[in-house]
Amino acid sequence: MADMTMLAKAEAADHALSAAMDRLVIVKSALYTSGERDPREPLARPDSRGKVHLMGHDPRLSRMPDRPTVLDFFKHRFGPAAHLLQSARLAQKNGASEKIVLACLLHDIGNIGFIRADHGYWAAQLVEPYVDEEVTFAIRYHQVLRFYPDASVGYAYPESYIRLFGADFTPEPYVEREYQYARKHKYYMSARLLTVNDLYAFDPGLHVELEEFTDIVGRHFRQPGEGLGFDQSPSAHMWRTINWPTRYL
Ligand SMILES: [Fe+2]
Ligand SMILES: [Fe+2]
Repeated sequence: MADMTMLAKAEAADHALSAAMDRLVIVKSALYTSGERDPREPLARPDSRGKVHLMGHDPRLSRMPDRPTVLDFFKHRFGPAAHLLQSARLAQKNGASEKIVLACLLHDIGNIGFIRADHGYWAAQLVEPYVDEEVTFAIRYHQVLRFYPDASVGYAYPESYIRLFGADFTPEPYVEREYQYARKHKYYMSARLLTVNDLYAFDPGLHVELEEFTDIVGRHFRQPGEGLGFDQSPSAHMWRTINWPTRYL
């Protein structure tokens, strides 16, 4: 009986989704397809007869609460986040401060949930209005510090980067410049600690619950009452875009 109800519910949900999709024109941002297509070329016009262009929630995505928290974004938009959870757990095990643990938890939300290129900068910008400047700095600069060893903390150039980018890869000049800047900064060691706990060897057997970090997030992430995306912070529009990534305008 319960199975039937579940099946009926799943079928009704399927039906509602295809009905919604029949009514909507959903267009991807240029950034999603740039490279697969030449962004200078005009887009093929979708057949929009009898349809409206999507201006809100994308029915293919799980619906976020009206006042979403950063943990809601993990649940609805940032999965799978095992890498972030495992890095945060490792930082905790290594005795890092709560701010560093939070930085580890958030450090790759750029590439996991938003934009890959320059992921550290995007992630830092997303969280900047809500966290201590030390957390933002660590997230922003982990991206460039990862390319440079620091023997004082036992950090070597990652083996995986040789595999990923080739043995002859050299970072862009701006990366070198940013590294030199970060090295002299008072929060250098915070960003460096993030790279030390930035696990590249994922352990598929280690399960870490998001809820383990609820308290740390509560203490160090200033969640806006209106919900992320609906306050007036400088990054609110970025959170809205992650919530509703396919709106026409
Ligand atoms: Fe990263
Ligand atoms: Fe990472």
